[in-house]
Amino acid sequence: MAASKTRYSKVAMGLHWLIALMIIGLIVFGILMTNPDTPNRFALYQLHKSFGILVLLLSILRLIWRLTHKPPALPDGMKPWEIAAAKFTHIAFYVIMIGMPLLGWAMVSASPIAIPTRIFDTLPWPDMPGIARSEALADTFKMLHHNIGKLTIALIALHIGAALKHQFINKDGVLRRMFPG
Ligand code: HEM
Ligand code: HEM
Repeated sequence: MAASKTRYSKVAMGLHWLIALMIIGLIVFGILMTNPDTPNRFALYQLHKSFGILVLLLSILRLIWRLTHKPPALPDGMKPWEIAAAKFTHIAFYVIMIGMPLLGWAMVSASPIAIPTRIFDTLPWPDMPGIARSEALADTFKMLHHNIGKLTIALIALHIGAALKHQFINKDGVLRRMFPG
């Protein structure tokens, strides 16, 4: 997409909203399924793993799209620190969109309780190559998945806050850049 365009491409928008929805769902279901009082926890774990792998595949596609298609230029009047904060958040999101599913996959591959992963109860998903079954290793991946999950929640809050500030305070149409029409 040319830099003079004022919107992201339809593919970039579609992937943004699809992945955003799935990540928010993964966080909500992740917190629910790890609570011992939640019913049907096993089914939730399977769904969490399936959607998580889907986010991994879509995010790889999205990263390739992003590296091969220029985004629209930022609106005039943004301060250098705001541009830097936006860039940092967006890069951090790409790291999270790919890193969180990889950590989850590594965690279940290392877990001594070897529960097979079947994507949406259909497609068998292999264990991560090169990962040995070890409680200590699984715990390390779990700790990272948990803590980066918390960081993700903070970044989403920051990102939504920034979008709302652009919309209602700066009124520079940044939200429109991610919507068609
Ligand atoms: C973007 C993708 C993902 C996000 C945002 C995400 C987020 C979360 C969150 C918020 C939790 C609960 C946090 C906690 O208390 O530990 C969780 C737990 C978990 N996730 Fe994910 N997850 C993702 C992908 C995956 C994938 C792909 C797998 C496996 C294939 C996975 C496996 C697990 C497991 C097994 C737990 C439970 C850990 C425990 O028992 O404490 N996750 N995830
Ligand atoms: C888990 C949730 C979300 C994630 C991971 C996420 C991730 C991202 C990323 C990586 C970008 C940069 C796009 C690129 O240049 O490739 C972006 C842009 C954007 N996001 Fe999100 N987003 C999420 C949720 C939201 C929500 C809820 C809103 C609205 C309130 C929103 C509004 C926007 C807008 C307006 C842009 C365009 C910024 C610009 O003009 O450069 N996002 N998002």
